[in-house]
Amino acid sequence: MDLKEAIYTRRAVREFTTETVDQRTIRQLIDAAMQAPSAVNEQPWSFSVVRNKAVLAQISREAKAYMLRNPPTGMPSYHLRELVSDPHFDILYRAPVLIVISSVTNNQWAIENCSLAAENLMLAACAAGLGTCWIGFAQTWLGTPDGKATIKLPMNYAPVAPIIVGHPKMAPPPVPRKAPEIRWIDS
Ligand SMILES: Cc1cc2nc3c(=O)[nH]c(=O)nc-3n(C[C@H](O)[C@H](O)[C@H](O)COP(=O)(O)O)c2cc1C
Repeated sequence: MDLKEAIYTRRAVREFTTETVDQRTIRQLIDAAMQAPSAVNEQPWSFSVVRNKAVLAQISREAKAYMLRNPPTGMPSYHLRELVSDPHFDILYRAPVLIVISSVTNNQWAIENCSLAAENLMLAACAAGLGTCWIGFAQTWLGTPDGKATIKLPMNYAPVAPIIVGHPKMAPPPVPRKAPEIRWIDS
């Protein structure tokens, strides 16, 4: 798959087969992530790879409970409450792998650096026939002391991009894009 095809066919995947993803493949995705640019070439990221099913289930459970106690801004609370109150709703969509890209906290461009690495990882996964989805719902709890301990993250790191990875059950349909706001400044 060439770059253009990966960019245009990558979709958020939320349904996976039960097939696992091996460590070698995950290493290749991390290598692709690390080719991203970073401010002052600091490469301040780290990668927590969760494949343990019990830990994946724990992260979903804890993150949902945390969101009920601390509703995020910008989402209607009734919708959130309904979703995260559902014991059958797995915020990680039963994916076999969660890769959390984190950054040292004393980096001014932590979010930018990790987000660039995240997009590289998602495109590389797409090119390898894998599906991914960035799970913002998991981020806040993963940033708590309990969350960091669960993904073996030192206290001076903060999670930025929790990304699930797995073999897609089906190819999700295209998601329409809005027309771009372009301001040409030519003269
Ligand atoms: C920062 C960020 C957070 C996201 N959080 C979630 C999430 O918690 N759960 C989810 O199902 N999708 C999440 N997504 C996926 C978006 O919903 C998805 O990318 C968007 O609907 C566009 O679809 P596409 O990725 O297939 O183009 C997130 C995406 C981003 C970039």
